[in-house]
Amino acid sequence: MTRQKWKEALVDVSELRKTWGGIFDNSTILTIRGLMIRGAIKELHSVIKEGKESMVLSGIGKDGPIAIKVYAVAAANFKRMHPYLIGDPRFAHVKSDRRSIVYAWATKEYKNLQKAANAGVACPTPIAVRANVLVMSFLGEGGVSYPRLSDIKLENYQNVFENVVNNMKLLYQKAKIVHGDLSEFNILLGDKPYMIDFSQSVVLNHPQADEWLRRDVENVCKYFSKHGVAAEAAQVYQLITNKSF
Ligand SMILES: Nc1ncnc2c1ncn2[C@@H]1O[C@H](COP(=O)(O)OP(=O)(O)OP(=O)(O)O)[C@@H](O)[C@H]1O
Ligand SMILES: [Mg+2]
Repeated sequence: MTRQKWKEALVDVSELRKTWGGIFDNSTILTIRGLMIRGAIKELHSVIKEGKESMVLSGIGKDGPIAIKVYAVAAANFKRMHPYLIGDPRFAHVKSDRRSIVYAWATKEYKNLQKAANAGVACPTPIAVRANVLVMSFLGEGGVSYPRLSDIKLENYQNVFENVVNNMKLLYQKAKIVHGDLSEFNILLGDKPYMIDFSQSVVLNHPQADEWLRRDVENVCKYFSKHGVAAEAAQVYQLITNKSF
């Protein structure tokens, strides 16, 4: 057997099917196997979160704990995804069938994470993407994800608010993207707040980038205002963009 064949034999597809066949379709199983052969996934542990459109699992990669986000092709709400793709010059020419859109969606999250991580934004480090499967560094401890802001009470909301706004500014000014779905549900709090869930993030020249940034700013300010912080959307918007609201 060639070295490649030996490597492939190590990731026995029938073993993968036995464990994960009830959850994933065959094409996803083969994608995961491909990522295993490539070394991006060494072990697949358990489901962390099962959503309508995606599932997040924990595992081990080359350099430690990983999160694996698997987008469902069949359940994708691709009408919702469309405007975030076509207005973004990186994805303007994506084919309009369901599978192409979902694959582009996963690639989009990967590319956005690359931009954000390179700009120093606190977020998962992207590791690999293939078809509908995205691999990134794991934010959590002992296989348990850090809690979402929406799920916890904080001692000091002001500090976390300032940290989040700084990250939003980095994302806009250095990464040059807008998150597009930012709220207490897409911020995990560990040693500091981390932004997650970048699939709908768009580059600044997307025609709706400004509208979606305002929505992000308003969501964040609403959450922190509820918790006693003097969070003013107009002020935050100006701080991020150097433009008036
Ligand atoms: N890198 C990560 N490390 C640890 N846990 C993660 C990571 N990414 C996601 N999670 C966990 O999975 C949950 C869902 O992730 P995410 O917000 O990206 O998906 P989603 O809301 O289902 O996405 P979408 O809105 O695109 O369907 C998070 O709230 C968090 O608990
Ligand atoms: Mg989310």
